Amino acid sequence: MADLDDLREGSDFGLGVASQNQSFHVKGASNLPWGMKDRLSRIFNPKTGRAVMLAFDHGFIMGPTSGLERIDLTIVPLIEYADCLMCTRGILQSTIPANTNKPICLRSDAGSSILTELNDNVLIDIEDVIRMNVTAMAVMLAIGDTANEAKTVANLYKAVDKASRYNIPVMGVTAVGKQMARDARYFGLASRICAENGANIVKTYYCDGFEKVTAACPVPVVIAGGKKLEEKEALELCYRAVSEGAAGVDMGRNVFQSTSPAAMIQAVRGVIHEGLTPDQAYEMFNDLSK
Ligand code: R5P
Repeated sequence: MADLDDLREGSDFGLGVASQNQSFHVKGASNLPWGMKDRLSRIFNPKTGRAVMLAFDHGFIMGPTSGLERIDLTIVPLIEYADCLMCTRGILQSTIPANTNKPICLRSDAGSSILTELNDNVLIDIEDVIRMNVTAMAVMLAIGDTANEAKTVANLYKAVDKASRYNIPVMGVTAVGKQMARDARYFGLASRICAENGANIVKTYYCDGFEKVTAACPVPVVIAGGKKLEEKEALELCYRAVSEGAAGVDMGRNVFQSTSPAAMIQAVRGVIHEGLTPDQAYEMFNDLSK
């Protein structure tokens, strides 16, 4: 029982001062419950509204690709610079230290690999997501892929059904099929379908006319980096994306395949959180690489 000595009556009630309501910093999330907002706030920095997510889930379709042969050696040292880690449960449990205290966006669907037709995925169990205490789930949508479109849309809305019971946000990941045009019409359509089916975050690719993709998507959009570019070019990509409405990046190869991954992720942070121009961020990259 609490000590009852010296009980003090409350006296500072702020009478006449309106109750303080703060607006929420994540797009489309104002009506969500507290637990959902708390998780989104762990990913999207409340000061900038943006996130630098580090994606290293690639092995689930392509095995030990360049830069991910030894995640303990190449990715673990980068964790301190990321706002959120995106990976599979196998890598999370085997290789990511449990005391990093970073939010995890768990790759929550799996199926086919680069050796077969991609996109034929099923969802993992929500219990596993909860057991690993992850902050968000990531599920891929293959819009325009005749064989897998409906199945992957179903994966997303089932993930949203299950995750929302526990206030876990879901990130819809737009795949790019070989036949799909990488343009604003396609990414705008795919991103919007993610959001319409309940995704709280959408991951897609930068393209010409990207501001239409972000404008028509009612939740935050983060971009994948795609194939490895020269560092300066990758920083320009980040800059254009956030200037045109992205809420950050979920970047993999352009970080971990860089000549200096630690310098690169810090330069990306400079663009996303500190408003550095590509030139300033590239200078930072070069300085940190030395
Ligand atoms: C793709 O399915 C994976 O989810 C990757 O996480 C994604 O492509 C981001 O990685 P990158 O920046 O290398 O494109």
